[in-house]
Amino acid sequence: MEQYVIKGGNPLYGEVEIGGAKNAALAILAASIMTDETVTIENLPNVRDINVLLQAIEQIGAQVERINEHTVKINGSFIQDVTVDNEFIRRIRASYYLIGALLGKYKKAEVALPGGCDIGSRPIDLHMKGFRAMGAQVDIAHGLVTAEAEHLKGTHIYLDKVSVGATINIMMAAAMAEGKTVIENAAKEPHVVDVANFLNSMGANIRGAGTDVIRIVGVEKLHKTEYSIIPDQIEAGTFMFAVAAAGGNVLVKDVIPKHLEATTAKLLEAGCKVEEFDDAVRIISDGKLHHTQVTTLPYPGFPTDMQPQMAVLLGIAEGTSTVTESIFENRFKYVDELTRMGANIKVESNIAIINGVKNYTGARVNAPDLRAGAALVIAGLVAEGITVVDDIYYIERGYEAFEKKLRGIGASIEKVSDEKEIQKFILKVS
Ligand code: UD1
Repeated sequence: MEQYVIKGGNPLYGEVEIGGAKNAALAILAASIMTDETVTIENLPNVRDINVLLQAIEQIGAQVERINEHTVKINGSFIQDVTVDNEFIRRIRASYYLIGALLGKYKKAEVALPGGCDIGSRPIDLHMKGFRAMGAQVDIAHGLVTAEAEHLKGTHIYLDKVSVGATINIMMAAAMAEGKTVIENAAKEPHVVDVANFLNSMGANIRGAGTDVIRIVGVEKLHKTEYSIIPDQIEAGTFMFAVAAAGGNVLVKDVIPKHLEATTAKLLEAGCKVEEFDDAVRIISDGKLHHTQVTTLPYPGFPTDMQPQMAVLLGIAEGTSTVTESIFENRFKYVDELTRMGANIKVESNIAIINGVKNYTGARVNAPDLRAGAALVIAGLVAEGITVVDDIYYIERGYEAFEKKLRGIGASIEKVSDEKEIQKFILKVS
């Protein structure tokens, strides 16, 4: 088991480059099997969830050619199997995108029920409701979701809750259904738009992505394309929060500043400076932070995937702050770990009441999930003394070279795999 060991207290300076959006990439990889021609995808983040999905696509017969760390060519013409199940795919959330992709192309899919981070109950009823409305028979049995349709037909679907996954999944199946589909109350996240752009570049007819009504006219065939994935707004935001908490001045490069507006707004309220450029943002912090209130909401609201990082920041801000989680019911699991580092946080239902403390103190903590894991690393960067973050497996699902990028801006952090290496690091830094 690997860990991050961190010596806190270094302000962060310099530049960091942000990779492609993991959550866009996962859907785009699934959608890439919908054509029999070769698709080239660039700016792919080299993270664990992506590699698991690529393996799953290969297992059902698609040809996957890694051109380099961030570019892949996929050819879906050799797929003979619509059953996707292995021990790894069961652990990732985005496996559900293969249902929409396979159902759209082959009118049949059998995919292991998705796992992913344990941040709430995470049902897929809305995805299933959408496929059923298009005429598919959808069942869950023996841990597999089976969807099958003789004719997949365009229809009108209202999503009872704004769901990124359901919006994208239904959009993918509808891209190759007969006739017109309208998705109402659709998610507006940048990666919904990115997936729509990708499908359109393959010949799909999707309009309105980025608004709450998406209109799709099904086409019979999709064709080859070359596509570059948008920057990861959550990775970018995580680095912005790291600088805000640790203090310093960092240029976060290769981002779309518009996608970061909610994050930027909260950082300004907390007392940081943010300068926006065409494809970069500069974050400046003197480490003196103010309290504020934040509620997670679907885009363009404050992202739930940035909630733990925000809470870590507010944990060392002067005064009392509140963080309200409105998307997932189980997203405060990191609070106990942060408390062990000296935070003063009380959770009541879906609200964390945070009384800012002067600083965290280093401790041994466990990453409970991907984003909370990243947030605990941020706490470690600020904390007095040494922090060890265990279970970094979660963090590596979604952050490429996290510790290397942090070291590049002055953090004292290393990835280690045993107690000896932890002691060696401590000796080196003390
Ligand atoms: C995706 C992201 C995740 C992010 C989340 C919200 C991926 C792989 N994961 O997750 O990182 O935190 O969007 O931005 O892209 N819901 C239902 N029924 C459904 C589907 C969802 O009730 O069928 C509920 C969920 O429980 C949650 C809300 O809708 O309360 C939003 O979930 P959704 O947007 O679907 O999140 P995911 O696609 O799971």
